Amino acid sequence: MKQHSERMNGLGTTIFAEMSALAQRTGAVNLGQGFPDTDGPASVIEAAVAALRSGRNQYAPGPGVPELREAVAAHQWRFYGLDVDPDAEVVVTTGATEAVAAALLGLVDPGDEVVVLEPYYDSYVAGIRMAGGVRRPVTLRAPDFRLDVSQLRAAVSSRTRAVLLNSPHNPTGTVLDARELRAVADVAIEHDLVVITDEVYEHLTFDGAVHLPIATLPGMAERTLSISSAGKTFAFTGWKVGWATGPAPLVQAVLAAKQFMTFTSGAPLQPAIAGALQLPDEVFTEHTARLQARRDQLCAGLTEAGFGVRVPQGTYFVTTDISPLGYDDGVEFCLALPERAGVVAVPHQVFYDDVEAGRPLVRWAFCKQESVIDEAVTRLRRAFG
Ligand SMILES: Cc1ncc(COP(=O)(O)O)c(C=O)c1O
Repeated sequence: MKQHSERMNGLGTTIFAEMSALAQRTGAVNLGQGFPDTDGPASVIEAAVAALRSGRNQYAPGPGVPELREAVAAHQWRFYGLDVDPDAEVVVTTGATEAVAAALLGLVDPGDEVVVLEPYYDSYVAGIRMAGGVRRPVTLRAPDFRLDVSQLRAAVSSRTRAVLLNSPHNPTGTVLDARELRAVADVAIEHDLVVITDEVYEHLTFDGAVHLPIATLPGMAERTLSISSAGKTFAFTGWKVGWATGPAPLVQAVLAAKQFMTFTSGAPLQPAIAGALQLPDEVFTEHTARLQARRDQLCAGLTEAGFGVRVPQGTYFVTTDISPLGYDDGVEFCLALPERAGVVAVPHQVFYDDVEAGRPLVRWAFCKQESVIDEAVTRLRRAFG
């Protein structure tokens, strides 16, 4: 019997699941998968409990409950000055992952090309493949991981349908600046492309780095589908409440695909996230400040242990170069790391077509408690320092 369809060839198990299983099996400190080890705001949990208890337990409307669509639109206005119609220009999804997959299925035809930044979040590869599309990677290269505009231009062809962007960028921590975004916008306008932008780390930027949604650039609102979710912003990754905003035809394309995948997303969690999005600015900034302290703690520890550290401008990941420690292959390094040091991390190279560009790079998550990072750093210093 055939095990799986051709389009699943080579997709395997996501590296995050694999590494988390390794952490569990070995009792290692898990800095692999990017999930926080503390919950988001208690008031938001209480709002979900209240929704569960007040009969909001049947199918939500396909595009999402009105109060969440309104809250998403209000969020886009409050933080970015983007004017979004909650009835026609917002769709609620099962996490940003479903929004990305539905956008690709709803917008990309077989043979269409999708320009995507690499290292890429691994669901992009699967989403493009499932849509029958062809990925055209543009590599963010060590040590700075900035966008190479000439490589971006070279990646575009007459078959290009979309640019799939991610900023703040996982795993490099790069926050695309105005010049880089302008370059993407120029290319998109020139070639009449859709931009699908994954902004799940929109609120997690450090040292004054500013997240600029590409939809705010002139000529871009009409061709940009902006995607985010509650997972990273509020530390509720398990809730899988996400959304896409943009011009009605693009949102309709997402909805067209979404309706036959999940039809609608978790009803009682939606009003709770609607409330979360309306929390005062301090809730957002304090969460980021706490993460920045963890970032500094982990970066200092990794530096002391001898890694080459790239301090991230955003997200909750640090990228390191393992070559100063005498290693050159991140996969081998990460597979041996639980036994060698009692820590789990994720190798970059699985996120590249250009495997060589990612070979010596390893990603560490710092969305963990101070004591957990402390323990990880102590173990790493003992093993390598
Ligand atoms: C770039 C990026 N997009 C999307 C996601 C997943 O978002 P969600 O849990 O809302 O599906 C992640 C999670 O790690 C991510 O790093």
